[in-house]
Amino acid sequence: MNAEVPENAVETARRHLVQPWPVASTVGAEARALIGDGDGIYITDGEGKRLIDGPAGMWCTNVGHRREELARVLYDQAMQLSYNTPWYTMNAPSAELARRIAAAAPGDLSHVFFTTGGSSAVETALRFMQFYNNVRGRPEKKLILSRGGAYHGSTYLAASLNGRPRDRDWMDGADELVVKLSSPDPFRRPVGMEVGAFADMLVEEFRSRVEAIGASRIGAFVGEPVQASGGVIVPPDGYLQRIREICRENDILYISDEVVTAFGRLGHVFASGDVFGLDPDMITFAKGVTSGYFPLGGVVISERLLQELRRSNHPDAMFAHGLTYTSHPIGCALALKNLDILEDEVLAHARAVAPYFQAQLKSLEDLPLVGEVRGLGLMACVDCVADRESKNPLQLDRAVGARIDAHCHELGLLVRPLINMCVMSPPLVITREQIDTMVVILREGISRTMEDLRREGLWQAEVQPSPPPPLSPPPWPQ
Ligand SMILES: Cc1ncc(COP(=O)(O)O)c(C=O)c1O
Repeated sequence: MNAEVPENAVETARRHLVQPWPVASTVGAEARALIGDGDGIYITDGEGKRLIDGPAGMWCTNVGHRREELARVLYDQAMQLSYNTPWYTMNAPSAELARRIAAAAPGDLSHVFFTTGGSSAVETALRFMQFYNNVRGRPEKKLILSRGGAYHGSTYLAASLNGRPRDRDWMDGADELVVKLSSPDPFRRPVGMEVGAFADMLVEEFRSRVEAIGASRIGAFVGEPVQASGGVIVPPDGYLQRIREICRENDILYISDEVVTAFGRLGHVFASGDVFGLDPDMITFAKGVTSGYFPLGGVVISERLLQELRRSNHPDAMFAHGLTYTSHPIGCALALKNLDILEDEVLAHARAVAPYFQAQLKSLEDLPLVGEVRGLGLMACVDCVADRESKNPLQLDRAVGARIDAHCHELGLLVRPLINMCVMSPPLVITREQIDTMVVILREGISRTMEDLRREGLWQAEVQPSPPPPLSPPPWPQ
């Protein structure tokens, strides 16, 4: 073998692959855990260790890995039509998928523009808002309201909306177009404030910012129903509906970013209507639409907006926006089969198992490192704190999530570390027994992390942990 060619994939990656979200000191030189294959809720790493896929890839492998019917659709559609130009031709799977998605969407959302993923979906929705206001003769109505804790993607405009700590420290953005509001995070609300008063405060902030800036300058609000990558922030009851009303009153488009929450994560095809009673002007989606088997996303657009454009005084105005892979026939055919699986078996299962998932994870709150476990549906977050009074997210050691992940990996569970948090969002087909195993491993991973932190003098909890429940037999190799 040529000495220049590294033998294993991790080493090859270290030499040639730039992986997402790298830091400068290791960019282009990183060894990440190799994943070899997947089956159901499990994945297998490069050493042959089987792991529960705790984050379902990146909130996406909703119907689980290795679904033969999905693999078959990929093959069949590629053999029938692998690609057609969406510029001046079309294909049947994209039309049918748009029909099915519109049928599941709330309010008057009737049409779909397909993209290649979540960032391009958000980017499309924002560019559509700009186009809509230009055509309607309101070129100054372009500002975008976003919130702390938000994550909307990695393309330029979508990334400009991001509000998580560190996302923007070293990155440029279209800051002149974005207005940031507070995160609707009840856990870190002002000390002593009731959750209801916190919701009032958020709504008041929204209303007063709109008044101060002037609705004539604000084009859209973009919000995740549950802020996912910001740490599974479930907003206070009623807050989203009140924001929606203010948007309606001020002719501000409400864009619900359901890249994570759609296609089953909260037990429904879309959460905006079925979980939160919202009727947004646009909904963005991606990930679960193909359960991660193909890169596809999209925006569902309100009939009202389209009609307004059709009736405008600028019949030649062009929405000069499209992607080579818009309405990709393979992605759309696969998404149709994925939607069948979701509607026939998975959504009902997800709704049934979600309360158990939340309750079992909540039991981890007896560990003193755990400040809060929160979530909704089949998404949850274990938020670790240095102490529960200050809710300090462990500034001593920002890698607590990664430490827990490392221990859990040893024990057979992949978690998604986020600074001081661990996000759990397994494939929706997870069973109660598998949830039990997941939580037992997580408890052990957090306990081992607590021991490490104590040993290294980084953390000292006042409260001693209660003993973990007995394990028989242990779910991981000793
Ligand atoms: C809410 C939300 N919007 C948009 C995106 C961007 O999606 P993608 O990574 O597919 O571009 C993500 C990704 O995690 C997301 O969580």
